[in-house]
Amino acid sequence: MATELVVALDYSDRKSAEILMDELHGLPVIYKIGLELFLSVDAQWIQAITASGERVFLDLKFHDIPNTVAQAAVKASKLGAEFLTVHLAGGKRMLDELDIRLQEAMIAGEITRRPKILGVSVLTSFLEEEWVANVSRMAKLTGVRTIQDTVNHFADLAHSHPAIQGMVCSPKEVEAVRFKYPELYLMIPGVRMEGSALNDQARVMTPSQAMKAGASAIVVGRPISRSENPRKMAEEYLREIS
Ligand code: C5P
Repeated sequence: MATELVVALDYSDRKSAEILMDELHGLPVIYKIGLELFLSVDAQWIQAITASGERVFLDLKFHDIPNTVAQAAVKASKLGAEFLTVHLAGGKRMLDELDIRLQEAMIAGEITRRPKILGVSVLTSFLEEEWVANVSRMAKLTGVRTIQDTVNHFADLAHSHPAIQGMVCSPKEVEAVRFKYPELYLMIPGVRMEGSALNDQARVMTPSQAMKAGASAIVVGRPISRSENPRKMAEEYLREIS
């Protein structure tokens, strides 16, 4: 399967997002709406975008009790989002409920398609020592210690659970997860063209490295949105992953 390009709409006003989408109009990209933009627009705006045929990844990283996450996922599906994210730390019961509610909503005709649910394992903003300190109590109980241990554990959960179709992976993790689980949809942020500014990304991959490592999609924000010619830049990213 070809690697897809996700463009992050990291804005706090809808006008800026609309300007970028206008510039990229007609290119085969998926738009990522995160918490910042989500809290700056209304539901109808998102619905109008998906109704116009644009593909939307709603990156709200749900993590709550099973009932709340399941209801929120149904709501998000009604907006036409093609991808949603949940924290795998929410556990199996949260995922069970999510699966059941989405199935029920499909059968009842409340939603017309099920979005792909991507699991978030360990946020890449964590430093190893910070993580170990955070989970030290849990580690005593489960033996899970390093970030890699935890990612492995969550990759097993993502693979084994029917509610989950993929994961968000850092460039560091993608190759190992892809090797173990060929069928998961892996979305990879932290992607940069050779020689371009890293911004605050610590570890990056080029688009072609990500593709070779098994990325199903790469997520790119500032290199496109802050470029003088966003369309040309998006086309360059698309070329490298085609
Ligand atoms: O501007 P940049 O290309 O760094 O943006 C990448 C996008 O991917 C941002 O929306 C960022 O929040 C998101 N992201 C990330 N690293 C992760 C998960 C998500 O950069 N581990």
